[in-house]
Amino acid sequence: MTDVQYKSGPVTRSKTLVIGNWKMNGSLESNRTLLDGIVAGVAGGDGKATMAVCAPFPYLAQVADVLAGTSISWGAQDVSAHDKGAYTGEVSASMLLEFNCSWAIVGHSERRAMHGETVELVADKAQAAAKAGITPVFCVGESLAEREAGQVQTVIAAQLAPLLAKGDELVARTVIAYEPVWAIGTGKTASPEQAQEVHAFIRAQLPTTAKEVPLLYGGSVKPDNAATLFAMDDIDGGLIGGAALVAKDFLAIATA
Ligand code: 13P
Repeated sequence: MTDVQYKSGPVTRSKTLVIGNWKMNGSLESNRTLLDGIVAGVAGGDGKATMAVCAPFPYLAQVADVLAGTSISWGAQDVSAHDKGAYTGEVSASMLLEFNCSWAIVGHSERRAMHGETVELVADKAQAAAKAGITPVFCVGESLAEREAGQVQTVIAAQLAPLLAKGDELVARTVIAYEPVWAIGTGKTASPEQAQEVHAFIRAQLPTTAKEVPLLYGGSVKPDNAATLFAMDDIDGGLIGGAALVAKDFLAIATA
């Protein structure tokens, strides 16, 4: 465990971090419009937040081309746990690096639910990303049924456990995103207090050397609720779905 070498550096919550997750949306044409809008807005913005977009794999070359030389970084929405070989349809971290990706989302609830990703696999993916030099954005979150059954902490702890087991060095190189499943794409946001409570719980689980990693909130973050969420002590930014597809909304969230 301790002899694993990571090419990505440790991450800290010195600046608000706002990452757009485009999910399976976009086209060459609409991406261009969206990216141009974001770049133009950032040029006149306050630069208070670090901004990034996570695009579908086929568009990473386009995103890299348009965003090169700007302050906005980019990444993928998934990454293989394997380095290379007979894994049809998978994309490795070293491939993402060739397109200058800084980030890879791992364990999004849509992948856990629809693609059967286990907690162990998600931690393996995080490790593969960090080894290659890409910062994993590690998603956790409970379903509505789990929340109503009072299992929020149990569920989050179980999702974090395989990551924590891989050692403090990996955790210190990981962004963690709390995305309650019931708040994703539903228009129902966790209240700032509900989100803060879980974020504080997550931070308490982290090893001493990784206490300052950014903890993002995701789930129906919009321009009108971002400021109150990001004002909470342990909320260091957001992972944005729908609102990241509209340049002015994404920019408004980043300046919240
Ligand atoms: P929405 O912002 O559309 O609710 O999506 C959140 C999300 O899943 C980001 O990864």
